[in-house]
Amino acid sequence: MQQPIAIFDSGVGGLTVAKEVMRQLPREKIIYFGDTARAPYGPRSLEEVKEFTEQIVNYLMTFQPKMIVIACNTATAAALEHISAQVSIPVIGVIHPGSRAAISATKTGFIGVIGTLGTINSGAYSAALKQLSPFVQVYSQACPDFVPLVERGVFLDQEAYEVAQQVLAPVRSYPIDCLILGCTHYPFLTEAIQAAVGPDVKLINSAEETAREISTILYNKGKLALTEDLPVHEFFCSGTAEIFQQIARQWLGEQIKLTPVLWQVSRMM
Ligand code: DGL
Repeated sequence: MQQPIAIFDSGVGGLTVAKEVMRQLPREKIIYFGDTARAPYGPRSLEEVKEFTEQIVNYLMTFQPKMIVIACNTATAAALEHISAQVSIPVIGVIHPGSRAAISATKTGFIGVIGTLGTINSGAYSAALKQLSPFVQVYSQACPDFVPLVERGVFLDQEAYEVAQQVLAPVRSYPIDCLILGCTHYPFLTEAIQAAVGPDVKLINSAEETAREISTILYNKGKLALTEDLPVHEFFCSGTAEIFQQIARQWLGEQIKLTPVLWQVSRMM
């Protein structure tokens, strides 16, 4: 049996990473978990998000994955180091890949970061960017209104454009040349965000760089899938299946195999 890659998020946001993994590594089987019953994670304390992350990783370990991708910036900020120390398989988050992509994209060194309250208040992006380059200037802003919009399936509507215009008004006064979408839900709002910040600001989506990192890790470990048959991915969510299915179909362009799970805490690590 092929060992899957386990990917999770508080909700549908991690589908932006899953989609890119499917594109770059079409042979890899994905097990995806969206904790939609408890989203959004952004306004919660990092301690609570760390606890949730541990529970989800315990659950995902029952599928015997070959690696774990924390496709949630808030959970990455809260628990990446902790989880990496707990399990024996590779674990990656999305903050370093996003930071690397921004450093390679910026020409002026003025980088904007938008994310959840948890991610922005953790300072994880500023630290990651400064670690890569001490010369960058970082402007950060939390956008707590965005995730609830996406979880409702509102991303191409007029409402999304209006919220983005309003929320991102302060960003326009800062001379950034790129803006990190520091929440995996935000790529759903790419058009609305681009319209709000203007065409001269390059939007950085960490999904591409994260998928590249997965590819490198699996290659170096000799763990890339070699099967001829394309895998059947499996999706799980802790909340209502209908809206998840609808958003996933719209985003991935296909019907997914989705199982709602009655959330229960188990300790498997
Ligand atoms: N998609 C997540 C992130 O990247 C979490 C958003 C939320 O649940 O608030 O931070």
